[in-house]
Parts: sequence; structure tokens; C-alpha cells
Amino acid sequence: MRILLGVSAGIAAYKSALLLRLLTEAGHDVRVVPTRASFEFVGRATWEALSGQPVTSEVFEDVPSVEHVRLGKSADLVIVAPATADLLARAAAGRSDDLLTAALLTARCPVLMAPAMHTEMWEHPATRANVATLRSRGVTVLEPASGRLTGVDSGPGRLPEPAEIAAAALALVGEGSSPGETDLAGRHVVVSAGGTREPLDPVRFLGNRSTGRQGYALAAAAARRGASVTVVAANVSLADPVGATVVHVETTAELRDRVRAAAVDADVVVMAAAVADFTPARPAEHKIKKSAGDEGLTLELVRTPDVLAELATARLRPGQVVVGFAAETGDDDGDVLEHGRAKARRKGADLLVVNAVGPGLGFAVAENAVTVVDAQGRDVARASGSKDAVADVVWDAVVPLLAPPAEAAADGAPPLG
Ligand code: CTP
Repeated sequence: MRILLGVSAGIAAYKSALLLRLLTEAGHDVRVVPTRASFEFVGRATWEALSGQPVTSEVFEDVPSVEHVRLGKSADLVIVAPATADLLARAAAGRSDDLLTAALLTARCPVLMAPAMHTEMWEHPATRANVATLRSRGVTVLEPASGRLTGVDSGPGRLPEPAEIAAAALALVGEGSSPGETDLAGRHVVVSAGGTREPLDPVRFLGNRSTGRQGYALAAAAARRGASVTVVAANVSLADPVGATVVHVETTAELRDRVRAAAVDADVVVMAAAVADFTPARPAEHKIKKSAGDEGLTLELVRTPDVLAELATARLRPGQVVVGFAAETGDDDGDVLEHGRAKARRKGADLLVVNAVGPGLGFAVAENAVTVVDAQGRDVARASGSKDAVADVVWDAVVPLLAPPAEAAADGAPPLG
């Protein structure tokens, strides 16, 4: 496929070098078109070396081949990453004062923009209006991720990870990491992601380190494979997975309600969220203050419902496949897999995805390594690598357990004749 990769002048331009790598390694022919100012961040040599193609920002170079028309018209997909506030404004206004904006006017293929800028710029009414204009014309403008920005500030405005941008862009032209796989077409899947937070008082909570990356990768993979996807996201600040409906929640109680509501007509429920096992018995109405002489604070916690075990017992829709995750560290009583197998037998889910967590493992890192076990704790599959690769292995294990589509569709329908 011929991809035009536009790069505008943001500090995140260096991440596009990785994006370019992902696209060329997947066999695509990528032509990089940076804006003039973006050369302040990444130089021409980098783009030319990585793409193996000449690179220019100018309309007035190589005039005889009318590059701005040829590039736009011949592209099968355009990706702009990072898309700065200025680039969004110029694209929304239909300007053509450099090769990238001119090519955007001549392109007739799907266009995806991945914005990156400071939160204030992203939230400014001018930028909001430009994004709305572009979206109304059919351009896919990703939501930026939240997190640390260039300075000391943090908030929405980070460029999504290169793998997420590549997956979202390729999904626009019907190409995913499993090209041609539509084995979840016609299925509704629910994925919980992230980590729940239990309030101690109006400003504090008990939480965990889950970022939601694995859950989001599962949701994106399911959407690529044709499913209709609902994500119940607990405190996740990543860009929404393409093709999924995302419901944001904070606490275990909210997560339980929203997962159960969505699960009523789901073929599969995957509990990838890290759910708090305990919640404060009586969250304080006002901020907890320390008094002179206080040497410690004792909190009374009560058990939360086990959402996964409940779903496995209730099977809110006949034939529903229920999948859990087991985040384990291993201890004196057993290693990661021993704990995982025991948990599989306890929870009653059809599949349990066991992964080791701890410093540099599982949570908040791009890579993951898992063993998928069945309800008896027997190995079904193993996967390691990117969270996207792991997600596809999990779906590969789920698909054989699904009731045939006709049977699933007939559930609850009155008998014919
Ligand atoms: N889970 C859940 N509800 C809870 C706790 C966990 O639905 N209250 C789900 C998680 O989403 C995950 C699975 O159960 O799919 C296992 O979570 P994990 O934290 O590994 O296990 P726990 O049930 O908390 O067991 P333990 O405390 O023994 O590790």
C-alpha cells in the first residue's frame, strides 16, 4: 500500500520515525512529507534513510512531476503524526502553503491525523472547531493520549503510541495485524480495562498501576476482527481504541454495573481490568485531616464483589464466553503459573490469561508475556511480545469457544413455525 506520512512541527515528531519503521516493516511503501518547521525536530536525513525515498516540504521542488497532485492522488492512506494545532488549522482552512497541506487537498483516500500539543492548545475553541470541521469532512482525528507533555505539565495532548496510530490507520483501510481475519464479525464483545479506584475521601483513593493498555489492545484487535466492541474503562487516559464504544468509570461498583449492563447481549466478556479487591468501608465525606499526635491511620476496608466470578456463574447471555486475567507476582506458596492455574479453577471463567506483574513487567509497559489456561488450569496458548500480539492470541483462543453465529442469534428468539 502507498502511504503518505505527514509530519508537522511537534517534539513528538521523533515518534513518527518509529511509526515509519512499523509501516515499512509491514511492507508498505511510505513517502514522508514533513512541514518546513518540523525539520527543527527531525532532519531530512532521518526520513530519507528510514523511508528510502526522497523527502521535501516544498511544492516548488521537482515541479515537472507536479508532486503535490501526484502524491495526494496516488496515496492509499494518509497519516499525519504528529498533527500540531497549526497543521490542523491549515488543513481545516484548506490552505496549501506547503507540500503536505497541498497533498491533503488532492488526496481522496482515508486520512488519519494524530494530534499532539499542549493541553491548552488542544482544548482551545479554535482547535476544537478545526477538529470538528476535519471530522465532519471524514478525516479521522484521534484523541491525544494523556500524560507528561514537553515541559513539566501533563494532561491530554500526547501523541498516541506509534503502534496504536499504525493500527488505527490500517484499520481505516481494512488492514489489521491479522489481515483478512473477521472471525468476530457479528459478535458483541465487552472488555473491561484499566484499574479501579476506591475513594478514601474526596481527594484520595486506593488504586493500582494498570494503564489499560492490554485491555485497549484487546478491544482494538476485536474491532479489527469484526466485532462490535464495548470497553468499560476504569481510569484509562489512552486514546480510545478505534472502532470501540468506550464507557469511562472510576470505582469497582461503577465498573460492575456497566460491565453487567453491557454483558446482557454480549457473546464474550473479557475482564482485563485490575479490579480493587477491597474498598473503604466508609469513605470520608470531607478530606481526612491529621491531628497533632496522630502516629498512624487505620483504614477499615470491605471486600468488593468479584465481578469475574459473578459473570462466570450468571452467564448473562446463554453460551457467553467469559475470560479473566490473573496478574500474579509469585510468592512462597507458588510461582506465577501455579497461582494462575489455581485461580482459573476458582473463578469458573472459560479462559484465564495469566501474566506476571511487577517492576518492568505487565503493568505500564508496552510488552507482555502471558499463558492462557482453561477453567481446569490447563494450558491453551502462550504469547509474548507487544500487547497487540498478545491480544490476537487471546482472541484466537476465544473464537473456538463461541457458539455458532446462528445459534447465538437464535438465543431468546421465539421458535420458528
Ligand atoms: N476481578 C474481578 N473483581 C474483583 C477482583 C478481580 O472481576 N473484585 C477479576 C479481574 O478483572 C481479573 C481476575 O478477576 O480478570 C483476576 O484478578 P486478580 O487481581 O489477578 O485476582 P483476584 O481475584 O484479586 O485474586 P487474588 O487476590 O487472590 O490475587
